[in-house]
Amino acid sequence: MFEVRLSPHGEFDNSARAYDHITVEPIAAAMGAEIKGVQVASLSDAAFAELRDALWRHKMVFLSDQTITHADHEAFGARFGDFAVDAYTQGVEGHRNVHPLIKEADTRSKALFGSGWHTDSPFLDEPPSVTILRSVETPPYGGDTVWANSALAYRMLSPAMQEMLRPLKVHMSARANAWTQEKVSGKALAFASDERRCAAFEGNLHPLVRTHPITGERALYVDEVYAIGIDGMAFEESRPIIQFLTRHITQHAFTCRLRWKPGMIAMWDNRTALHLAANDYDGFRREMYRTTMVGERPA
Ligand code: SIN
Repeated sequence: MFEVRLSPHGEFDNSARAYDHITVEPIAAAMGAEIKGVQVASLSDAAFAELRDALWRHKMVFLSDQTITHADHEAFGARFGDFAVDAYTQGVEGHRNVHPLIKEADTRSKALFGSGWHTDSPFLDEPPSVTILRSVETPPYGGDTVWANSALAYRMLSPAMQEMLRPLKVHMSARANAWTQEKVSGKALAFASDERRCAAFEGNLHPLVRTHPITGERALYVDEVYAIGIDGMAFEESRPIIQFLTRHITQHAFTCRLRWKPGMIAMWDNRTALHLAANDYDGFRREMYRTTMVGERPA
């Protein structure tokens, strides 16, 4: 398969803005930044507004050494708006919007939750805007999360390719992922009602190039887990386009990678980033908690 490989050049700008209440340190040329000097559990409104601005700019931001409970995690999420539907997992007792993602040391699985490149639940009418992931126990090495900047990837396509893609609608469905998950763990969409499961399989047609509702930035909206076709095209026609675009977005130059430690919290903008959970830490326990915030219908 042909892959476009690029090295960072002048189109890349992941530099930090100057803020009054937080310190932001970019971690890669393409995307991602660490936010320092604050605890998410006690952020002032002014600091939260700056953090949100940094999130839109860097696509993924994280904080280390956080003292945070499930209640704090949920309360922090609520500052972004309403919680999204999560058909994959069930919330912890007393905090139904905080979903555990736990892999035990003795679990062996060919596919983990989130181990293919994806944006969160794009099969929904209104897919999640922001996902917030917190680490409690992490492997000594491995178990990283990797993100790819799909807005930068769009900008780095030729004008002719951009123009061809702009009017297209991508069919996002949970069908293919459910089949993979069921084969390896028998658990896909286990917590969805029959109605929700059917709707997730049916999926939605969304713009293949979407525009960020706040920044106006355009980004590719396509992935290897949920994109099963392009409206009006035969499978044989759409498949190579989807494969090309997913490979294009996820080439190393557009990515950043986080090595987790306990007490971290990371959040990402699902409209402008894909992500993947590395399935490479058999023999070690990883305990994470996740909330997803409802987004808008992609436009
Ligand atoms: C996810 O896809 O939301 C999970 C990411 C991770 O566990 O690193």
